[in-house]
Amino acid sequence: MRVRRAGRLPTGIAFRGFRKSDLEPCLRLVRRALGRKHEAVCREDLTLLPYGDLPFYPKRVLTEKGKVVALVCLYWHTYYPRNIAGIDWLVVAPSHQRSGFGTWLVKWSIAEAKASGRDTLFTWAAGRSRPFYAKLGFRRSRIIPREEDPHAVLMARKI
Ligand SMILES: CC(C)(COP(=O)(O)OP(=O)(O)OC[C@H]1O[C@@H](n2cnc3c(N)ncnc32)[C@H](O)[C@@H]1OP(=O)(O)O)[C@@H](O)C(=O)NCCC(=O)NCCS
Repeated sequence: MRVRRAGRLPTGIAFRGFRKSDLEPCLRLVRRALGRKHEAVCREDLTLLPYGDLPFYPKRVLTEKGKVVALVCLYWHTYYPRNIAGIDWLVVAPSHQRSGFGTWLVKWSIAEAKASGRDTLFTWAAGRSRPFYAKLGFRRSRIIPREEDPHAVLMARKI
């Protein structure tokens, strides 16, 4: 099953807002993909704030037969520089990787960020995801002043 060129999701795959019941399945995805340390941080990000669609932290999942197969969150920079948006916690289940779902979610993120008036999209790319982001036009960047993260590099692209 692959995402078709026109960008339509395959039959049986749904894209919807994050619900409280998605928390544990999403954390399992993060644990398997990135490890327990990341899982703990992700739990904070997904639970410290109320559930639902906060205007500055939209969260979405892809599901198949009701089961979460991917997660993506966005955050709008509310302080300088304000023209940028970030992709957070983009994770695709191993069973669904290399089928175009990650690309589909980045394209959705680009459209959302554009619609909210941003002109740049960034991400802290964990080691193994760098070729994926590079293929989508992201390049190493210093757009945000922050200490280097030993586990991830800041990558950004104009949108
Ligand atoms: C990175 C990730 C989101 C990519 O999602 P995906 O659905 O597998 O990506 P796509 O199928 O859209 O891949 C598109 C292209 O990106 C590149 N790519 C994707 N994964 C790659 C990998 N592991 N190594 C090298 N290139 C990769 C390939 O060029 C691929 O095209 P191809 O399959 O035709 O060769 C997914 O592998 C994942 O969840 N990884 C673990 C979590 C993670 O690292 N998230 C990012 C945190 S910053």
